[in-house]
Amino acid sequence: MKILVTGGAGFIGSNFIRHLIENDPLCHIINLDQLTYAGNLDNLSGLDAHPRYQFVRGDIADRSLVDALAREVAVIVHFAAETHVDRSIVNPDAFIKTNVMGTYLLLEAAKKFNHSRFIHISTDEVYGSREKGYYEEGAPLSPSSPYSASKAASDLLALSYYKTYGLPVIVTRCSNNYGPYQFPEKLIPLAITHALEDKPVPIYGDGRYMRDWLYVVDHCEAIRQVLREGRPGEIYNIGGQGDKTNIDVIHLILEILKKPASLIQYVKDRPGHDRRYAIDPGKIAAELGWRPSHQFDVAIEHTVRWYQEHPAWWKRVKSGEYLEMYEKIYGVSP
Ligand code: NAD
Ligand code: DAU
Repeated sequence: MKILVTGGAGFIGSNFIRHLIENDPLCHIINLDQLTYAGNLDNLSGLDAHPRYQFVRGDIADRSLVDALAREVAVIVHFAAETHVDRSIVNPDAFIKTNVMGTYLLLEAAKKFNHSRFIHISTDEVYGSREKGYYEEGAPLSPSSPYSASKAASDLLALSYYKTYGLPVIVTRCSNNYGPYQFPEKLIPLAITHALEDKPVPIYGDGRYMRDWLYVVDHCEAIRQVLREGRPGEIYNIGGQGDKTNIDVIHLILEILKKPASLIQYVKDRPGHDRRYAIDPGKIAAELGWRPSHQFDVAIEHTVRWYQEHPAWWKRVKSGEYLEMYEKIYGVSP
């Protein structure tokens, strides 16, 4: 099976490409990635010359490029997106262009070339916040940030291509991921790398916000199963029902690193900050038999060690080279 993966140089996309190449000997992957500040070919080192892997640098909002690549494959697994909530608050433009327009152009291309699958990778954030209980797939969407609103828009567009044109679209909505190769703007890698440098670790608001943390390899395996056995037109929640407060997560990281709690610095809250994300993954468990196979306590320790053992990786992305690239793209410093 020949697959076009978009955003494969990012955190989850690169983990997914490695996972698929290792576990599916028949897959051939074309990775289309624009290499924004979040895309990093170091995430795929060792795969460059792999006979079943090809990299193409480009924008998913470039219609002719997308058409040319879609012609070559039967399946798209679509990760490419602007993904950081804080950036979407400061500058939503790229979120609308990539997440909405980019997704639209990929759907059009998949329709034109009669693809057999379109896996749209989405997020639990589209349901919005929930203090108690868990959202199932049929829950109404109530996104809070420009990021989650752009993802909700793209989910609905994707599902409309199933209803209107019969394109075999499947939408997955996953909770917060953590693991190797995550850009250190997100809470867990930011906390680990700041603590390793003895810098203050910022906690927004009262730190009692809750997220359901899922190890990235569990997410990748869920997508692999959805790709093989998921039902077209369906939405699958992917999560571990392991919600934790941010402050508890930070204390655990500091404990693993043997760093003092005095590094924690309470800062201003994020505007529109969702209190808790919570999804019910019962459908994917019942239909496909997927369940997370990594325990948080074990996988977070493995993750902390990975960043500890790969300082060159995160120092480069936190370096002047990255800052320069960021400024070129966004016109401001991060
Ligand atoms: P990321 O920010 O690490 O990577 C995004 C990738 O997309 C980068 O490689 C970037 O270069 C690429 N990209 C951005 N704009 C592009 C464009 N216009 N054309 C081509 N490539 C472009 O993101 P991530 O955390 O790996 O998330 C991947 C997907 O999973 C996203 O769709 C996100 O919404 C979803 N998701 C993420 C999480 C999470 O916890 N990180 C949870 C649930 C869902
Ligand atoms: O739920 C899935 C989503 O998870 C994905 O769709 C998004 O792409 C991904 O970025 C993530 O969104 P969050 O906003 O939940 O992740 P983030 O790592 O930015 O923040 C996690 C929590 O930690 C949130 O409550 C805000 C808080 N936070 C974050 C940072 C970066 C802090 O307290 N301090 C920080 O410095």
